[in-house]
Amino acid sequence: MSPKKFQNAVLNWFDQYGRTNLPWQQSINPYRVWISEIMLQQTQVSTVIPYFERFMHSYPTVDALAAAPLDEVLHHWTGLGYYARARNLHKTAQLVSSELSGQFPDNVPQLIELPGIGRSTAGAISSIAFKNQATILDGNVKRVLARFSATDGWPGKSAVVEKLWLIAETYTPFKRIADYTQAMMDLGATLCTRSSPNCEQCPLMKDCKAFKQGNPQDYPGKKPKKKLPVRTTCFLMIKNSDGPCC
Ligand code: ADE
Repeated sequence: MSPKKFQNAVLNWFDQYGRTNLPWQQSINPYRVWISEIMLQQTQVSTVIPYFERFMHSYPTVDALAAAPLDEVLHHWTGLGYYARARNLHKTAQLVSSELSGQFPDNVPQLIELPGIGRSTAGAISSIAFKNQATILDGNVKRVLARFSATDGWPGKSAVVEKLWLIAETYTPFKRIADYTQAMMDLGATLCTRSSPNCEQCPLMKDCKAFKQGNPQDYPGKKPKKKLPVRTTCFLMIKNSDGPCC
């Protein structure tokens, strides 16, 4: 499937079914996109919404967050889990506020230098907040692309995840980049789910290799199980031909 066709299918689906009224999709700025992306890293949209709103109420700007005591920021995080995220958030806010005059970098190489921002989160911030042609590959998008391309192997292996990054980059459009980024995450979260993909509703179904093979659930590949050490016992029977016969 050509990138153009892939992008059109995804964007047309997004125009009909994509999420457009999430709180971080309103009054978009890099700070709001960054906070939402960090909160969404390991947590579902419905859980994140009230946290995001309380956070924005208390810390409307990166400077406000940088000036807040860490304890208070951690308190706002109570219930979201993975507290390293909140500590990194605070560190990054202080860096951006004091060393970058409160301005987030707009590109992936500089964003990934900041604590808590990995390659996919950097792609999300660059594409959604700055409308740059940057690529994302979070857990949901890995699943969509692994199935679409029937890429074998566990994405915890660098060779596998690098293949998926290449595919993701091939399909990343120049136009409507923010909608495309959101669309890919929405496809993974709402249709191309882990255990019960709704292929019939998927705009990529006709060209999805895993669908054509009839085994979308087999992608992405699972982490290989460690082989348990096998204890082999060997019996040696010695027949003593000298002894008395019993
Ligand atoms: N998961 C990570 N980023 C997301 C976003 N912007 N929207 C929905 N789910 C996400």
